[in-house]
Amino acid sequence: MTAVAIDGPAGAGKSTIARSVAKELGFIYVDTGALYRAIGLHALKNGADPKVQEEVGPLLSGLSVRLCFVDSEQRVLLNGEDVSEQIRTPEVSMAASGVSALKSVREFLFELQRSMAEENDVVMDGRDIGTVVLPNAQVKIFLTATPEERARRRHRELLEKGAQVSYGEVLADLKKRDYDDSHRAIAPLKPAPDAVVVNTTTLSLQESIQMLLGIIRGKL
Ligand code: C5P
Repeated sequence: MTAVAIDGPAGAGKSTIARSVAKELGFIYVDTGALYRAIGLHALKNGADPKVQEEVGPLLSGLSVRLCFVDSEQRVLLNGEDVSEQIRTPEVSMAASGVSALKSVREFLFELQRSMAEENDVVMDGRDIGTVVLPNAQVKIFLTATPEERARRRHRELLEKGAQVSYGEVLADLKKRDYDDSHRAIAPLKPAPDAVVVNTTTLSLQESIQMLLGIIRGKL
């Protein structure tokens, strides 16, 4: 099986680019952030503080988080319920970042991510795919852009979905998540030593997709 690992901070364009690249290659696209979001949502629904192991840990026993694909689009099932839309709010983003620093949560999701790549050719995106989940991936890419550009993109996406949020709030949330994701003790966000770093600040979506396809095809 072939794996392309794409890591990077929030709003670097990972999911949009990875989805197109996967389609072009005929691979399945796995968005691992959605798994952390599902657990973040579960914590919020149960009144647990997402950052506190003692509160989130007990919620994991018996919990079912599954991915399924409908017309090649990933859906996330939390205890059988499709939560793919519910997990896309700013509140759940922060909760996902909170639970993702817990060892128990990362261990809980590890096998699921690994087995997806054992059974399929994948383009998998996240924060620790090239470093921890798939250290033997054939291609590793670290996608980044300036915080301001990433916040602009995220803000536009949220406005399109009808959310009422200011650019300043989006930028502040994104910087906090970047800081927390790259400073946590377990599986912090950082490029794998053998990753190709791509900065998309001045690239259009199409240019980014073409650049990644060029890198991937050069390595496969
Ligand atoms: O990619 P997305 O913004 O959906 O991820 C939500 C959160 O899940 C991130 O801020 C990060 O804290 C966490 N995450 C992670 N490891 C991954 C994917 C996401 O820690 N592989």
